[in-house]
Amino acid sequence: KEGFGASKLKFTPIAPVDKLVDAVTVPEGFTWQPVIRWGEPIFNGTPDFDINNQTAAAQEKQFGYNNDYSDIIEIPDTKGRRAVLFANHEYTNEGIMFPATMPAAQMRAVGQAAHGLSVVELERKNTTKPWTYVKGAPLNRRFLNSTTYELTGPVAGSSLVKTADDKAGRFIKGTLGNCSGGTTPWGTILSGEENFNGYFVAPGTSDYDKRYGLTSKATARQWEIDEDRFDTRKPGYENEANRFGYIVEVDPFDPTSTPKKHSSLGRFKHEGANVIIAENGKVVAYSGDDERFDYLYKFVSRDFYKEGDRKHNMTLLSAGDLYVAKFTGNSADFKAGEVPADGAFDGTGQWLPLVVNGESKVDKMSVEEVLVYTRLAADTVGPTKMDRCEDVQPSLHTGKVYVACTNNSKRGIEGNVFADEANPRNKNKDGHIVEITEAGGQDSTTFAWNLLIVCGDPAVDKSTYFSGFPADQVSPISCPDNLAFDSVGNLWISTDGAPSAIQKADGLFKVTLEGAERGKVEQFLAVPREAETCGPIVHDEERTVFVSVQHPGEDGSFAAQRSFFPDYVAEGATPARGQVRAPRPSVIQVFRG
Ligand code: FEO
Ligand code: CA
Ligand code: CA
Ligand code: CA
Repeated sequence: KEGFGASKLKFTPIAPVDKLVDAVTVPEGFTWQPVIRWGEPIFNGTPDFDINNQTAAAQEKQFGYNNDYSDIIEIPDTKGRRAVLFANHEYTNEGIMFPATMPAAQMRAVGQAAHGLSVVELERKNTTKPWTYVKGAPLNRRFLNSTTYELTGPVAGSSLVKTADDKAGRFIKGTLGNCSGGTTPWGTILSGEENFNGYFVAPGTSDYDKRYGLTSKATARQWEIDEDRFDTRKPGYENEANRFGYIVEVDPFDPTSTPKKHSSLGRFKHEGANVIIAENGKVVAYSGDDERFDYLYKFVSRDFYKEGDRKHNMTLLSAGDLYVAKFTGNSADFKAGEVPADGAFDGTGQWLPLVVNGESKVDKMSVEEVLVYTRLAADTVGPTKMDRCEDVQPSLHTGKVYVACTNNSKRGIEGNVFADEANPRNKNKDGHIVEITEAGGQDSTTFAWNLLIVCGDPAVDKSTYFSGFPADQVSPISCPDNLAFDSVGNLWISTDGAPSAIQKADGLFKVTLEGAERGKVEQFLAVPREAETCGPIVHDEERTVFVSVQHPGEDGSFAAQRSFFPDYVAEGATPARGQVRAPRPSVIQVFRG
């Protein structure tokens, strides 16, 4: 390996791209193509995608919509020629997916089948060639709302999660709102159930419902018409929403395995979760709650990682301690939007206990209650209200933890919560990146922190900050969302929201973390109009980068599409087999071409 930060993946940063450009923009000398697109058939006998005549039966066997987290893991003993792709499917955009003439019931059924998760095998001729997916491969799998997930940890069997369909409170049908995720050191995939509240009608009157955004309004997709469980006012389903909002764990190498939902990591709008093995062998998982003024969490396993013992390691997220973060700044002179006099946004922090050694640390709440109503439990212990924590990821090179705070337009406006040193701007439209250094081992309960980047376009925004790197030498970056590392420890950040914040297309950016160029931001790619950039995977040693392009053209309609990514069929042209003149969320690869 070359030195820290010096990657084989060399590129000249692209210029920022206007938000209306309907193209994937990559650096000079690179090219891109899809790995897999919405609607591609996954199993033998699955029909080809037909956007004008989709059925639920077909969609259940095709790649789902709005891929967010993704990872590609090589299958051992295949000389790098075979891999497994994981992608999740966060939500659907029915208005651009289906002709308006499709019957509403069919639209609901197909939309539901386009949610969930996918595992698909990939192949390539050799390690210099791009990947293609393999229809009918043995590991291929769709996870649907009919798929059974096993609930693990203290909430399993609790009266808080029992329903008419699951009187034992242990087995849950489906997963919802899957946003980001992480890949564990033992080769399983974690996926975060984020905006699950949008799928339920609820009484909406209790503190619990209100704190989780559950209301009595009809949902956007109206699945409650077909299934009573999506209306928690219905007898027997009062607890159904308590069965969503967890971290899901999937074994992509065993298509017969039962996926898990881990209650020990708490229930909130989990963006995702990322795991690192601590010095003492425990595993630590970090997870953000993506809501304005919500919190950052840390889980420490009870048991120890055992190298090579996959079965054991897959139990590690089922038992352990849960903490929530409090940040304290060290600059008494801190003023909103200004770099403090000591030259840094920085300070110390504490991981405040919620559950330790199987016992609740929250007054008047049981362990089960803390893990189901985690937001309300955390409210009582005084954590720091954050600007929407999205991905939270430890560097496996340094153990430092990076937190993408995407934005918070309401800071300084709602609830008397004003800028602090860790969330340093009111009306924070561009977001920032927090860097945490645990004080002792990775499982420490105290830490130091600083801000790596205060995002924005430095040409027009003097409140931006790049750890002291000259602001006129960075790519503008706004609304950080997903994080990844390359093999030499550089941070890669994908964005979601730059079009409205800085009028530029969302994209993927490399950030140098150490040395003289710490804080240098270089844009690698931009995604088509109205898309967000998700699931970055950086295989820098193969000079290849993958991203999930989510919701391209989402402000259009079926009759008036605003993006034609990725097929780009010309107006009036007859599409080739399998192509359409409409946007399709896809996982793409960018490589030397
Ligand atoms: Fe689904 Fe927090 O983004
Ligand atoms: Ca300071
Ligand atoms: Ca996200
Ligand atoms: Ca986001």
